[in-house]
Amino acid sequence: MVKILVSDPLSEEGIKILKEVKDFQVDIKTDLKPDELKAIIKEYHALIVRSATKVTRDIINAASQLKVIGRAGVGLDNVDLEASTNKGIIVMNTPAGNTISTAEHTMSMILALSRNIPAADFSLKAGEWKRSKFMGVELYGKTLGVVGLGRIGTEVSKRALSFGMKVIAYDPFLSKEVANHLGIEVVELAELFTQSDYISVHTPLTDETRHLISDKEFVMMKDGVRIVNCARGGIINEVALLKALDSGKVAGAALDVFEKEPPDSQSPLLKHKNVVLTPHLGASTEEAQVNVAIEVCQSVRDALLDKGIRNAANFPCLAVEVCQLLQPYINLAEKLGLLAGQLFEGRVSELKINYTGEIIKHDISPLTMAIVKGLLSPILQETVNYINAKNLAKERGIKILELKSEKEEDFTNLISVEVAIEGKHRKVAGTLFTNNEPRIVNVDGLYVEAIPQGYMLFLENWDKPGVIGGLGTLMGKNGINIAGMTFGRDKPGGKAVSALNIDSAVSSHALDEIKKLDNILSVKLVKL
Ligand code: NAD
Ligand code: MLT
Repeated sequence: MVKILVSDPLSEEGIKILKEVKDFQVDIKTDLKPDELKAIIKEYHALIVRSATKVTRDIINAASQLKVIGRAGVGLDNVDLEASTNKGIIVMNTPAGNTISTAEHTMSMILALSRNIPAADFSLKAGEWKRSKFMGVELYGKTLGVVGLGRIGTEVSKRALSFGMKVIAYDPFLSKEVANHLGIEVVELAELFTQSDYISVHTPLTDETRHLISDKEFVMMKDGVRIVNCARGGIINEVALLKALDSGKVAGAALDVFEKEPPDSQSPLLKHKNVVLTPHLGASTEEAQVNVAIEVCQSVRDALLDKGIRNAANFPCLAVEVCQLLQPYINLAEKLGLLAGQLFEGRVSELKINYTGEIIKHDISPLTMAIVKGLLSPILQETVNYINAKNLAKERGIKILELKSEKEEDFTNLISVEVAIEGKHRKVAGTLFTNNEPRIVNVDGLYVEAIPQGYMLFLENWDKPGVIGGLGTLMGKNGINIAGMTFGRDKPGGKAVSALNIDSAVSSHALDEIKKLDNILSVKLVKL
């Protein structure tokens, strides 16, 4: 008997899919305390959650038979992905099931904000009749600035256009043609801030998007701008938002998500008269919950019956055995994609992957999926998985070329990842050393030998005396330990690349200091 535990409320339409399979036993046990879940998880082969259950490393360690974790939703914030992957547990989510509901919620928030609906409702229920107090504004003819034109951002834009709004968008990873085709004008971020009457954010929360809207950005905006966040708390700096609301710069804000959830009940944002709030309800519709329940249950069922893996955040192969065999290559491939995605900034139009040596005896398609997933992960986070990665790249106008060559260069196997960005070609390459140890061996044509792991700094510099000394001193001053270093150069005194493994992240202030050192051309912090 295959045992499946559903530990958060899930629509019956999904549960039915699992119950139809004769060999499946489905147990629905919600509101379990962590210790209770830990005590019973060893009995189960699959676990399905929404957001309440926290699937921590501790739970995963106790899950001796678990093969699959299914999350009915997008975010994997409540599942320890690394611990799951280390244990060979497949983690699946449902990237598209709640897109429409979240887009509609965003429109509801924009409208509620414009017509003071929550405050007017409250006032009338309190026995008042104050028509002049709740004067609103029209959406017609106003400009909506959409930051992040992915699934939800696009659906919001379409709806806003139908209201007669002008829609401008900023998404550095999407081709202009795709947006223009929808009637959306693509602009730079600064332009979006200065031109918009409404700004709605629809990006994931990443190192790049954390506090994307803060004091400096509010200053650039029109007086009386209205701000909406139905994506992730933290994209907008809440302290800066409060200041901008208090000063009147921002006429109103509508928030479905918060830096801390639930937010502190004493938070001034919660009491602000010009703020409309909902408790993370973007996906809370009957339809979205049916969609995500069906999607997650179908994926979990198929994985348990060996009928293929869909929407997996951590497995690129249809069969688990193939994945196990290719795992070291998959790991290397994904790290190369991740490195290229973080190291090379700008709109990628082409991805050329060159597989050389013994590796081509294997099926390389999971490796290409892993490279593309890695490349898009810094941008898309959980909404990209191994299975949808190539499609998402295509939708973004990225052409993928796969080349294989038997010719062994200096390595028995080599994966080289080259991206075309605004006419320039940038490259990273990696290999597996003995014992399947991954190494980055080439950055933009210069030989290096770096372990792709954790936080790393990549610098372009002139090969001049004193560069390393200056860098070491600065890192020491900022309390950052250097665990490993490698350098490559085209010729003595020429252009060089330095790759450093470091034990912790580097602040943006320290990065600015590094950039100012003599002979440093550029510096980039990446996390692999
Ligand atoms: P998506 O992956 O389809 O789209 C995200 C878009 O953001 C992509 O087009 C990407 O290129 C863009 N992007 C990434 N970094 C950017 C940056 N620095 N600047 C501008 N654009 C950037 O994701 P989606 O399905 O549209 O979801 C968007 C967000 O909404 C996610 O954070 C998701 O977790 C959240 N979400 C919230 C709820 C809710 O209940 N409130 C429900 C579903 C999704
Ligand atoms: C998601 O991650 O899918 C959304 O934030 C909604 C949810 O958590 O249900």
